[in-house]
Amino acid sequence: MIRCCIFDLDGVVVDTARFHFEAWASLALDLGFRLTAQAAEATKGVGRMESLDIVLRAGGLEGRFSPEEKQRLADEKNARYLAFAAHMTPADVLPGVGAFLEELRHCGVKRALGSASKNAGAILDRCDLRRRFDAVVDGTQVSKAKPDPEVFLKGAEALGMNPAVCVVFEDAAAGIEAAARAGMRSVGVGAGAPLGRASMRIASFEGFTFEKLCREIDDI
Ligand code: BG6
Ligand code: MG
Repeated sequence: MIRCCIFDLDGVVVDTARFHFEAWASLALDLGFRLTAQAAEATKGVGRMESLDIVLRAGGLEGRFSPEEKQRLADEKNARYLAFAAHMTPADVLPGVGAFLEELRHCGVKRALGSASKNAGAILDRCDLRRRFDAVVDGTQVSKAKPDPEVFLKGAEALGMNPAVCVVFEDAAAGIEAAARAGMRSVGVGAGAPLGRASMRIASFEGFTFEKLCREIDDI
């Protein structure tokens, strides 16, 4: 029985994963190195300061900066990210997401957002998405980054749902691992999404329905 769907934001509901990548990549260039695709992928789903550590390690710069300097670098990355995101509109919601969220509402399935991002609220407002979710848990409300399950457990708790009846939608390996640790099933979103411990993968929400979800994973 699936009674609740919990959605990651960046790269699942909206195409902001590329903005995070571009902001980190330009910061890395300023620090004198080119960010590899592998290091960029590792920042997916992970909190801001944890991502900074991944980026600095990729450039062989770990341990080079004081906490204050690291905070400045993280602030700079965030400013660059927000400059990209400033132009977003409801048209930037990924294809099929709106219809799927509406179908869930129609079926009485609860919808939660479970994002590591401290900018999630601003993005939801820009894209007129807040009203689509019954609960929102973002990076301002959690203390432990994915793959820790905190963000998803809080989402389920806010809606009074047992993890066993929740399904998480995620584009990042850290998020799929977090769902598994929360005792939830998960769906990898995106053609290149890592499957890991996910129950299934979809290329996008286009043409995806709650009925298909139930058929694929509800008796696992
Ligand atoms: C996640 C993104 O959703 O949020 C990561 O996948 C990002 O790339 C993280 O680092 C934190 O986001 P923010 O907006 O708080 O810097
Ligand atoms: Mg994501």
